[in-house]
Amino acid sequence: MLNTIYEPIQEDLVKVEDRLRSLCEVDFPQLSKLLDYSLKSGGKRIRPALVLLSGRFYRYDPSCLVPMATAVEILHTATLIHDDVIDNSSVRRGRPTVNKVWGEDKAILLGDYLLAKSQELVAETQNLRVIKLFAQAFMTLSRGELAQAVNAFNLDQSRQQYLQRISAKTASLISLATESGAILSRAPEKSVKILKEYGRNLGIAFQIVDDILDFIGTEEEMGKPIGSDLAQGTLTLPAIFVLERYPEDNPVIRLFQNEERQKNIGLAIELVRSSSIPEECYAVASDYCARACHNLKLLPDNACRRSLIELAEYVVKRRK
Ligand code: IPE
Ligand code: IPE
Ligand code: MG
Ligand code: MG
Repeated sequence: MLNTIYEPIQEDLVKVEDRLRSLCEVDFPQLSKLLDYSLKSGGKRIRPALVLLSGRFYRYDPSCLVPMATAVEILHTATLIHDDVIDNSSVRRGRPTVNKVWGEDKAILLGDYLLAKSQELVAETQNLRVIKLFAQAFMTLSRGELAQAVNAFNLDQSRQQYLQRISAKTASLISLATESGAILSRAPEKSVKILKEYGRNLGIAFQIVDDILDFIGTEEEMGKPIGSDLAQGTLTLPAIFVLERYPEDNPVIRLFQNEERQKNIGLAIELVRSSSIPEECYAVASDYCARACHNLKLLPDNACRRSLIELAEYVVKRRK
């Protein structure tokens, strides 16, 4: 399904892959190996695709959009490498994480290297507004990850706080992708705003679905372990729904109070799977996708506009 969605920008997405590949060629074999491992590991490439799709409505300029799309994917990769250290995760994209194979020290440094590399690439656009947005999106993302870390095993978190957190940690980068694509193609301000808002809403839906799949997905499909949010003490939407439904006692409360962790993770997953909670969470995600697409009709009608709509459909259907 993603292949069809990416069809209108396929050619330039290949250029992004080429740039990612050439970036692995450095004069330092150990670094080269680490770069290879993390950049050629087959992510879905949603963020670079969004830069390119969003850049197709006005003056399409691949000389800026390709480095920008590459930069966004590299920033994403770096934050995943750091996220796996923070979460102590052992599997990502169906294989052992950098922290598990080479250790946390190498993972942190590889993440740093990639962050710097992503900034170098954004500078190629020579667009100060986009350079600044890139830095700001990364600050917002870091705040979101920090908000999650300081609230680990905190039961007293509202739906509102959850939405703010995922908007920061995930939607920031996705809306950076769409907003920068628009700016670099010299879109009128009204269109920049429409594409930015599309990215924000899509990003929120994307993370809600990721959080649902952490309960109802499988490791084979997701390429990462299930139940990891609960294991880290991260209160996501399905868990918040459990707390709302059974305020007196439930496995999430027991887990967060440090009782028989493994057993309560299993019970919480079972409870969610056998309830209508997944459906209710999907309804929230679908609502964000609908909001994402709402104003797209004000943009020029072309194949990329259809791809953006299909991508919103894909986000709620995805199993990986
Ligand atoms: C994973 O993002 C991190 C989240 C925001 C949930 P993706 O699911 O886009 O990761 P890859 O790049 O396809 O592996
Ligand atoms: C997404 O958070 C990571 C970032 C936004 C940096 P998660 O912790 O939910 O992502 P996964 O589940 O590890 O991919
Ligand atoms: Mg994680
Ligand atoms: Mg997750």
